Amino acid sequence: MTNKINIAIAGATGNVGREILQILEQREFPINNIYCLASSRSKGKKIEFKGQEIEVEDLAKFDFSTVQLSLFSPGGSISAKYAPKATKEGCIVIDNTSHFRMNDDVPLVVPEVNSDVLQDFFNNNSRSNIIANPNCSTIQMVMALKPLHDEAIINRVVVSTYQSVSGAGKAAMNELFEQTKNIYVNKNVEKKEFTKQIAFNAIPHIQSFLKNGNTQEEQKMIDETKKILDPHLLVSATCVRVPVFISHAESVNLELDSPLSNERAKEVLSNFAGISVVDYPEDKGYVTPVEAAGTDKVYVSRIRKDATIENGLNLWIVSDNLRKGAALNAVQIAELIIKKHSNCFH
Ligand SMILES: NC(=O)c1ccc[n+]([C@@H]2O[C@H](COP(=O)([O-])OP(=O)(O)OC[C@H]3O[C@@H](n4cnc5c(N)ncnc54)[C@H](OP(=O)(O)O)[C@@H]3O)[C@@H](O)[C@H]2O)c1
Repeated sequence: MTNKINIAIAGATGNVGREILQILEQREFPINNIYCLASSRSKGKKIEFKGQEIEVEDLAKFDFSTVQLSLFSPGGSISAKYAPKATKEGCIVIDNTSHFRMNDDVPLVVPEVNSDVLQDFFNNNSRSNIIANPNCSTIQMVMALKPLHDEAIINRVVVSTYQSVSGAGKAAMNELFEQTKNIYVNKNVEKKEFTKQIAFNAIPHIQSFLKNGNTQEEQKMIDETKKILDPHLLVSATCVRVPVFISHAESVNLELDSPLSNERAKEVLSNFAGISVVDYPEDKGYVTPVEAAGTDKVYVSRIRKDATIENGLNLWIVSDNLRKGAALNAVQIAELIIKKHSNCFH
């Protein structure tokens, strides 16, 4: 039987943190004591876990030497400050923010795709003890790309995303709700979380613009996909926020190195753990964000040859950004550590 561990959730009151708690409970993660951490604003609030109320503690005051593992999602600048403190106090950190993802000494892991990198990481005695969870849009895309890349080598990826507002946190979800409500009753639309009105709109701008014209979100998809799958991959991304509450969708165009039939593409995708192929060229024969919300799979639909290029393939990929795109992936990494590397806990 697996030994139970003490675990801390930093950012427990947020979208990702709450989903992590739900998934830990659903998957019966072996927990001895669990600690819920957030900002000092939330100190003393109660969060329910396994039928018990847990009092939220201030992340800034927490002693990480009391836990073996911590799952972080308090935002990049907060992780930057407290994840190293946690590791110094002997704890292993799985971080959901973008802060450490591209560091050479931090593995960027999607368990079904590249869990092997954890072996090298834990073999290294001077390791950072921080493991990064990739960006939500990256996770669902690399899940679908991996079996195709193994079959026919992908040379180039062109992706356009349709990203839900929950990817921008709980305040962004409230903004979509308030704007939608206010438009129906002819009230003013207030914009705080998004640069333009998000209700009934689509915004091709997620996070700040970089000098090369990409947004940070687009650059993350490019850099992270290469780090996880293959540094030789060419990736072009356009990331768009749409008025959907949960689940991201992606239209993906691939240039492969060799021919791949629609049937074989469907077969290798169907055989890959965590993927569900739902692809019938008929009404309702595909998955949309509403159906993916609350589920654990990465859904692939609309799989078809792109006849405009040699060896082209089109896909439509949908997944719950809070689950496989964040919380579930982090918990799967934690489960791998418990299963294969628990000797590394202090
Ligand atoms: N949502 C997604 O799809 C997704 C996917 C992958 C990664 N991520 C990343 O995960 C992080 C959190 O996202 P989210 O959607 O959960 O955001 P969120 O709903 O806004 O929640 C933010 C969490 O961070 C806590 N926090 C904020 N400032 C803090 C501080 N100074 N000290 C300690 N805790 C603090 C908040 O606590 P209070 O309630 O006390 O303010 C809350 O628990 C972000 O970096 C995001 O990029 C999100």
